[in-house]
Amino acid sequence: MLFICVSETVMASSIFNAPCTVPAVKGKNYFGLKPAVNNDLRFDVGKTTSIIGCPKRVFTVRASEKKDGPLKKLGLNDAECEAAVVAGNVPEAPPVPPRPAAPAGTPVVPSLPLSRRPRRNRKSPAMRASFQETSISPANFVYPLFIHEGEEDTPIGAMPGCYRLGWRHGLVEEVAKARDVGVNSIVLFPKVPDALKSSTGDEAYNDNGLVPRAIRLLKDKYPDLVIYTDVALDPYSSDGHDGIVREDGVIMNDETVYQLCKQAVSQARAGADVVSPSDMMDGRIGAIRKALDAEGFQHVSIMSYTAKYASSFYGPFREALESNPRFGDKKTYQMNPANYREALVEAHEDESEGADILLVKPGLPYLDIIRLLRDKSPLPIAAYQVSGEYSMIKAGGVLKMIDEERVMMESLTCLRRAGADIILTYFALQAARCLCGEKR
Ligand code: PBG
Repeated sequence: MLFICVSETVMASSIFNAPCTVPAVKGKNYFGLKPAVNNDLRFDVGKTTSIIGCPKRVFTVRASEKKDGPLKKLGLNDAECEAAVVAGNVPEAPPVPPRPAAPAGTPVVPSLPLSRRPRRNRKSPAMRASFQETSISPANFVYPLFIHEGEEDTPIGAMPGCYRLGWRHGLVEEVAKARDVGVNSIVLFPKVPDALKSSTGDEAYNDNGLVPRAIRLLKDKYPDLVIYTDVALDPYSSDGHDGIVREDGVIMNDETVYQLCKQAVSQARAGADVVSPSDMMDGRIGAIRKALDAEGFQHVSIMSYTAKYASSFYGPFREALESNPRFGDKKTYQMNPANYREALVEAHEDESEGADILLVKPGLPYLDIIRLLRDKSPLPIAAYQVSGEYSMIKAGGVLKMIDEERVMMESLTCLRRAGADIILTYFALQAARCLCGEKR
């Protein structure tokens, strides 16, 4: 007889592929469900056991000729057992359990004549796990990181738990922590010294600027890290706008695109894997694709901020980078939050210009747009859970109005359910730790 034995060994390395969806039983030679406490498989993060657990384990499958434990000898062979039952000599089994009593006062009613009772498929943790339609894993996360020229990490007031990281130390340490729980993609946002800002944002394509330097350092330490960059002029613009501002306040499109091409090429030269134009100028995807190709960066991907809305949810981010527009707003280039069909116009352009990934931003208030692009485009879809979304969940948690971890996991799962392949989220590290069954 061939017997399959699954044994569990703890892995030293921390990169794993897919998380298992149920907690494993430790110390046994099989794995399966833990005896059901109240471990509802998705949202009891940290409260009971590891949830959508991705324990750092490897399951090896061995084939062997005999079972590990000795078989208990019962006396009768199969034929004798069958004969005993046929003769009416049936061995004892536990009795049919009594029907659980309803509380006194429960009305006695005839049961509803339902052919379908959807609750049947939700009746136990194991069944809920079986029929869960959406999965989420640290591999789906892109971790946005703020960097600055300082040596220290500076807390960002409006984003509890987020820091402007020193690019030589804090940044490298944060990336190491993220990789440790399976988050191997980051996106960099620089806080640029005011003295380097200008109306044309030329610091954006300084090959020795903060972002290219940080990319080179990270790639040197972690060659397989996936580095996304932001392509836009706002951190480098003395006006705090994503493009060049004419004296009458108009944001100049084609001139800005010219600068963005130089910025993207500079980031690619430093080693960026995916450049991500977040500026919302027209025609920038095609122009950047051409500029990258002309410089031999055919392998560098473009994630386009396709449907980026003029949203008030970006407030904490702008505080983090001190990049608030000096005047006016961004409504002539970012989209009107009231618009749905317009996202299709942007998506068609980005697709035909050669975007590799389409991004929707913000995330949770724009689930319909994520679903729209998911249904209309074969390209991977990214969702950006922006700073305001993050800060609201953090604030609600601190004030004990909501359960921070559960709301975090639920919001991320909902972004996946709506159709996002990847999620840019400031919760990347915290959520990945939860998924790995770690509580900090
Ligand atoms: C700038 C940029 C912004 C964000 C990402 N890239 C701010 C803006 O458009 O004003 C916002 C991210 C967030 O709020 O988390 N091009």
